[in-house]
Amino acid sequence: MTRVGVAGAAGRMGATVCAAVEGADDLELSGRADPALGVELADILDGCDVVVDFTTPDTALENALACVRAGVHAVVGTTGWDPSPLREFGPNPPANVFIAPNFAIGAVLMTRFAVEASKYMAKAEIIELHHDRKLDAPSGTAARTAELMEGEVPIHSVRLPGLVAHQEVILGDVGQTLTIRHDSTDRTSFMPGVLLAIRRVGELPESPVIGLEHLL
Ligand SMILES: NC(=O)c1ccc[n+]([C@@H]2O[C@H](COP(=O)([O-])OP(=O)(O)OC[C@H]3O[C@@H](n4cnc5c(N)ncnc54)[C@H](O)[C@@H]3O)[C@@H](O)[C@H]2O)c1
Repeated sequence: MTRVGVAGAAGRMGATVCAAVEGADDLELSGRADPALGVELADILDGCDVVVDFTTPDTALENALACVRAGVHAVVGTTGWDPSPLREFGPNPPANVFIAPNFAIGAVLMTRFAVEASKYMAKAEIIELHHDRKLDAPSGTAARTAELMEGEVPIHSVRLPGLVAHQEVILGDVGQTLTIRHDSTDRTSFMPGVLLAIRRVGELPESPVIGLEHLL
């Protein structure tokens, strides 16, 4: 059994991850850390093989560093932070970090198709739409998609109640447009990707690895 701790366990994503881990035969939920529960990450690290982090942009790096220093692998879904200090552990870190701005398979495919299309169409723009409690803008998924596509790709961010996570990539050329759209209508859309990352993070060839496409 892999012992899994969840940082941000009282949040929208963290609570969904706790339920997914509890539902998996090969995984054991070994700790829930969240200031809202009065439990610090440091309190649960000892009993974990892997920690899943869905917290806030200003805590994700600190949490990932604490995991690596403790020899605990980290799977991070939190967006809007810079992971470059994690490279300072060098080629043989005490533990691995896997980061994905989006754990939904459909979103990974949307990005892949948009990158391919951008090689052939003149211009593109991205509209990303999320619930109004999301702290970062543009979304990690939109930033990553734009980074991988050809040319300058402007991003427009919409924040409204009723939305979960959605992205539209619109490509334009003479007399035509192409629209590639992905919708996460429920947070369970991210769970197969999160469980895959939990099972694979211990055997990564390098760390950090960024993007679910590297595990598919
Ligand atoms: N990668 C993906 O597929 C994906 C999907 C959805 C959301 N996200 C990202 O996940 C993050 C969380 O989103 P959410 O909607 O669940 O937010 P949320 O606000 O519902 O939950 C965040 C939780 O983290 C807790 N927290 C804050 N500091 C902490 C710390 N130091 N240690 C432990 N817990 C701490 C908060 O108390 C809160 O309960 C955001 O960055 C969001 O963009 C990623």
